[in-house]
Amino acid sequence: MPYTAIVGLQWGDEGKGKVIDYLAKDYDAVVRFQGGANAGHTVYVNGKKFSFHILPSGLLREDVVGIIGPGVVIDPESFKREVEELSLHVGDLKGRLFVDPRAHIVMPYHKLEDALFEAHSEKPIGTTKRGIGPANRDKYARLGIRIGDILRPSYLKEHINRAYDFNKRIVESYGESFFDRDELWDLLMEFAEYVKPFVVDTVLLLEDLEKSGARILLEGAQGTYLDVSFGTYPFVTSSHTISGGATVGSGIAPWKIKRVIGVFKAYTTRVGEGPFPTEEISEIGERMKEEGGEFGTTTGRARRCGWLDIPLIHYASIINGVTDLFVTKVDVLEKIGIYRAAVEYKLFGERISFPPAYSEDWYHIEPVYKDYPSWEDMINEIEGILKVEVRFVSTGKDREEVIERKGG
Ligand code: GDP
Ligand code: IMO
Ligand code: MG
Repeated sequence: MPYTAIVGLQWGDEGKGKVIDYLAKDYDAVVRFQGGANAGHTVYVNGKKFSFHILPSGLLREDVVGIIGPGVVIDPESFKREVEELSLHVGDLKGRLFVDPRAHIVMPYHKLEDALFEAHSEKPIGTTKRGIGPANRDKYARLGIRIGDILRPSYLKEHINRAYDFNKRIVESYGESFFDRDELWDLLMEFAEYVKPFVVDTVLLLEDLEKSGARILLEGAQGTYLDVSFGTYPFVTSSHTISGGATVGSGIAPWKIKRVIGVFKAYTTRVGEGPFPTEEISEIGERMKEEGGEFGTTTGRARRCGWLDIPLIHYASIINGVTDLFVTKVDVLEKIGIYRAAVEYKLFGERISFPPAYSEDWYHIEPVYKDYPSWEDMINEIEGILKVEVRFVSTGKDREEVIERKGG
């Protein structure tokens, strides 16, 4: 059965958690393929709030299988906490949640280094301080510790000092002392016991699911403009958040992804530093924040708010090969009562229709705005420009608050 990927078209927090939970009613499995506990995906069911950071957001549907693929970096603490919390509501997750042995572990020193880099940087990125950057750095530097390694302690013992020695130098260069190696070892061995019942080769699991005709969702975290290649570098995360990331992060072939649902908010938000052309630093921006509850699920930080940016989502739609659009939070825009979007930019006097590929130019583009009589008119214009249909409209945070246009 073909796969459906869900990706964010802005800077994250587009409402992907709600979208996944909603769509999961028609699917059998949900796969996380990148990122880690920097993600914060919120789902409301009958007024009750659930926050997902590391587990797939589809797990509230009790017949859905959740998979954490090889491209994810796993923080043991977050994983345990979330499994415990969710189990209270949906029962034991064993047999329904699976973790790939190739997924990397976020070590306590990664989180410390993330905080140290930020604290000592002249231009901090405003990371979530979840250790995601340093963990992915170690993955690519071939110094990472993987889930499968902690289940093979004698193998791990032979390799672990390379990782420790490198990270010790970094930590000590900031005048901090490194972690006790025995304590780190105990933490890993304790986590090995905890995670063991969930670990399988998820490539083979997906192959079996496919053969049985299962319908599978690929759950993107973050958003297109936080992608390490295509985002507003260096103010990005350290993984591939785009639909292409779903293939390398889960081990499924590109041609199997038949549908890519692009999720965007009816306005724009961003957490952390970096360019944001349509940012609205005004009373209206404040109202968006209040009405939209724009405070981070992971860090509680206030999100920067601004107008919808059509060139931004258009370019994202191209990168991701979006086949369907899912717009969220139109109710918030309705409360503001202004339906405004950037339709073009001006860059050094020239009109351009797409965001720039040069980091510097992001600081010079000026949005050209257009006002619409209603959000329906705005959506119709988006469909005309992107040549992609807006099939779903989310009109509130609860699971049921979705309008399916054109048959969904
Ligand atoms: P994600 O990271 O993309 O999953 O998005 P977050 O969960 O971090 O942020 C989206 C926020 O908006 C959450 O608090 C959702 O409950 C909420 N939300 C999602 N869709 C809607 C909607 O249509 N209307 C309103 N008012 N809130 C929504
Ligand atoms: P979801 O999945 C919004 C941002 C951080 C920071 C940058 C790098 O909920 O949409 P990192 O900790 O990843 O190294 O931080 O990326 N960021 C997010 N912003 N939503 C997210 O996830 C984010 N995950 C990371 O704020 O600017
Ligand atoms: Mg979020």
